[in-house]
Amino acid sequence: MSQDPMSSRRNFIRVSAAASTGILVASFATGATAADPIPRRPIVGKTPAKNPKPDAKEDSKDEGAEEDITPPEDLMRQHGVLQRLLMVWAEAVRQIEGKLDLPVESLHDSAKLMRSFVEDYHEHLEEEYIFPKFRKANKLVHTVDTLKAQHDAGRKTTDLVLQLATVSEIKDADSRAKLAEAMRQSIRMYYPHTAREDTVLFPAFRDVITQDDYDALGETFDAAEEKHLGADGFFKVVEQVAEIEKKFGILDLAQFTPKS
Ligand SMILES: [Fe+2]
Ligand SMILES: [Fe+2]
Repeated sequence: MSQDPMSSRRNFIRVSAAASTGILVASFATGATAADPIPRRPIVGKTPAKNPKPDAKEDSKDEGAEEDITPPEDLMRQHGVLQRLLMVWAEAVRQIEGKLDLPVESLHDSAKLMRSFVEDYHEHLEEEYIFPKFRKANKLVHTVDTLKAQHDAGRKTTDLVLQLATVSEIKDADSRAKLAEAMRQSIRMYYPHTAREDTVLFPAFRDVITQDDYDALGETFDAAEEKHLGADGFFKVVEQVAEIEKKFGILDLAQFTPKS
């Protein structure tokens, strides 16, 4: 079974990142109110075992320390970013259908994040480290094949959004219609896609990976985050998404509460 053992610099990276960016005290404009500071990524602790081994007494020494997030938790919060981008696309579709002026440059920015964060980072992690474990164990193979085909289809719709969400293209009625349809297709595909991963694939992941490989994967994910997003990168991406939501007028969470 393949694994990606990394040195134990995981916590070093986090502590260094925290020190260099002041993440322990900073608050970002991610959509939370001042009364709700954004919870930051824990910087101390080991990847918790779902079913700790009887000899894992060392963990008791960390009692009181914060625990690292697990690889599935990491992927699920990345899904949160994807869902916020889909909300932007749903609002863009609504504005196109309503013949409203939409912030096209922000829409283009959302497509760039879909490419760089969702496709080149999040989906790459799934394809490189999650899907192969299921294929090797011969479990949920059809689901994994479908999920991979959907990643490929998502890239095609994002290509279209990148191409058509420009100041010049948006003036053309045919381009607007194609743009809206591409975003509708992504929205329709990604909600069931992420829901299936969250409720079926990720919960089954522990059945197809050893504890040692699971722990090593946490290190691998940390290194990938550092490489692709930089120090404290996830929260910077959330901040960028919040800026885009602001331009579309959908940042205020309370607006989605039904008025009874
Ligand atoms: Fe996926
Ligand atoms: Fe995913």
